[in-house]
Amino acid sequence: LIHSARQIVQVVAKGERVLRGRDMSTIAVLEGSDTEYLSLLVNRKGLIEDFGTDTEVQSRHPDLKVDRRIDAAGKCIIPGLVDAHTHPVWAGDRVHEFAMKLAGATYMEVHKAGGGIHFTVDHTRRASEEELYCSFKKRLGTMIKTGTTLVECKSGYGLDMDTEIKMLKVIERARRDFHIDISSTYCGAHAVPKGKTSAEATEDVINVQLPKIKKMMNDGELMVDNIDVFCEQGVFDTEQSRRILQAGKDMGLLINFHGDELHPTHSAEMGAELSATAISHLEEISDDGIAAMVESGSVGVVLPTTAYILRLNPPPVRKMIDSGMAVALGSDFNPNAYCMCMPLVMHLACVLLKMSMPEVLAAATINSAAALGKADMHGSIEVGKYANLMVINANRWEHLIYQMGCHDEVIHYVIYHGSVV
Ligand code: NIG
Ligand code: FE
Repeated sequence: LIHSARQIVQVVAKGERVLRGRDMSTIAVLEGSDTEYLSLLVNRKGLIEDFGTDTEVQSRHPDLKVDRRIDAAGKCIIPGLVDAHTHPVWAGDRVHEFAMKLAGATYMEVHKAGGGIHFTVDHTRRASEEELYCSFKKRLGTMIKTGTTLVECKSGYGLDMDTEIKMLKVIERARRDFHIDISSTYCGAHAVPKGKTSAEATEDVINVQLPKIKKMMNDGELMVDNIDVFCEQGVFDTEQSRRILQAGKDMGLLINFHGDELHPTHSAEMGAELSATAISHLEEISDDGIAAMVESGSVGVVLPTTAYILRLNPPPVRKMIDSGMAVALGSDFNPNAYCMCMPLVMHLACVLLKMSMPEVLAAATINSAAALGKADMHGSIEVGKYANLMVINANRWEHLIYQMGCHDEVIHYVIYHGSVV
């Protein structure tokens, strides 16, 4: 029982799976008063059993025996944050490239000179599974501390079968052992490996890597949820990307990929045709792309850290929201954008992308859960969903965004499946 909260925020109606367009600014808030406190009840399976005023909850559960009571006097309860896009398994940082980019080098200049993703691939191929697991676990610990309870994790720094599988195994091990929920993504087409053409790499992904992953999934050795590709000028073109995504979809993976980031490539239109669950970046999305994604119901995942670090045009988020697209948020944590702190990402989304705080809360919870096809169990306070929650150490939840970079002060507890972590 989490007791005496002042507000319970981001309650959605039963069955609501995504908040679109202007609905995003009408998130529900239950507000307590000096005489009437609020409670949230979690059952032994770690699911939300009930919430409401103390009187309501007690009257619905008259014989309630409480194992553990968490005092949240004067505080707010919001859903645990969902980070819809990360690249968290890698070795070898790229701090030296940060200086190059500050001096004016573009992302693609660094990449074409053999740095960027290629640098990380060299280091990740050489790292052992154990080394990758250790650094990954530490990063997951940081994510939990900053309020993330469900995170999407990509492979993509192997670009060969052995290393891609090594990365997916590391993700799988953490999924089993660690107190954070994970959605895993095969991103073997994250870049064209040195020595291959994009056409050869496309065939390798479709005819060699995906069949092997399918076999491992069938044998119960691996669980993979999503298929990703970097659809970009000079990486995988729109037709190659379409074939890779379709091959992943054919084996039951959800389509969730990088598109329309640095150049307009009509990734959004292509993804919508394939009924992509989500498309990330979208700085260069066209008006037709927006309309197509609204029509297909694909979630647009925006990544403010990357646009900020690379000084890109921000994605046209206002247009996307006003057109009725469901917009989600991710940290895009990777060696280029070293940020895994969702409250900071939320702050950037407000200031740089001009989203309102309620829109940002929806984008970092229910809509990011929808981007992973997991909004049935994640992303809002609803009876029957996982009790993944955050207790905010303030009388208004907006402090989480307002107190920039102060998550230690603002986050009182992170609760995973009903237990404080
Ligand atoms: O989402 N755009 C491609 N992939 C990543 C960057 C990966 C890297 O630079 O290591 C992104 O920003
Ligand atoms: Fe990314």
